[in-house]
Amino acid sequence: MFNTQSHVQVQSTLNQLFDDARFDRLKMAKAVAKSFFRPMRPADFEMAYLSISAEQGEDLHQLIKDRKLKNIVEFGTSFGISTLYLAKGVMESGGHIITTELLASKAQQAIKNFKQAGVDELIEVRTGDAMETLKGHDQPIDLLFLDGWKDLYLPLFNMLESNFHKDTIIYVDNANMADSQAFLATVNQSGKYHLQPQYHGKVVLISTKS
Ligand SMILES: C[S@@+](CC[C@H](N)C(=O)[O-])C[C@H]1O[C@@H](n2cnc3c(N)ncnc32)[C@H](O)[C@@H]1O
Repeated sequence: MFNTQSHVQVQSTLNQLFDDARFDRLKMAKAVAKSFFRPMRPADFEMAYLSISAEQGEDLHQLIKDRKLKNIVEFGTSFGISTLYLAKGVMESGGHIITTELLASKAQQAIKNFKQAGVDELIEVRTGDAMETLKGHDQPIDLLFLDGWKDLYLPLFNMLESNFHKDTIIYVDNANMADSQAFLATVNQSGKYHLQPQYHGKVVLISTKS
């Protein structure tokens, strides 16, 4: 059902989104300026993509394809750049994606982007706090992609852990940020998981020990 033309359509949407994301630094500077007066919140980044790189995206695509990952859950949709790379993967693995985004305006724009890319039927977008939108999730997870607010990495991991299996991969973006360290230390100390840094520690891949 998906063919070369489908990949071209996804890539063309990605090119357009990356073009727009070029202005993220300016938007982030404005958000960081606000943090002088109070802690930063997701709404400060309502206009910013904060996306993974194209190189990370292609690696994710390849990972899904190589390991035939089908059931993908993403925390932190933003405007959907990472989700479109996940979609490239599931176009080939025959899987599907659940992605969740706190801010309604971002989620709505992401849905438009998925339609434009021709992959909306592969992606279920859940709008709201991931701790609510993913509560009670009871399907196996092959790939959990963590790219939202870091203070939720640990509670979300704990909430979804019963859905992990021996081949589950947890992809942690921004693993080198200070706010991610307590999460990674807790997972490591559990003794149940392997942690594999990539991109000089920006990413950590977590897999279960056999
Ligand atoms: C780094 S961005 C995601 C970038 C996206 N994965 C990409 O690569 O294109 C993080 C996103 O997580 C969202 N977010 C923050 N807290 C959240 C929560 N509690 N539930 C769901 N989404 C949340 C933010 O609004 C923001 O859009």
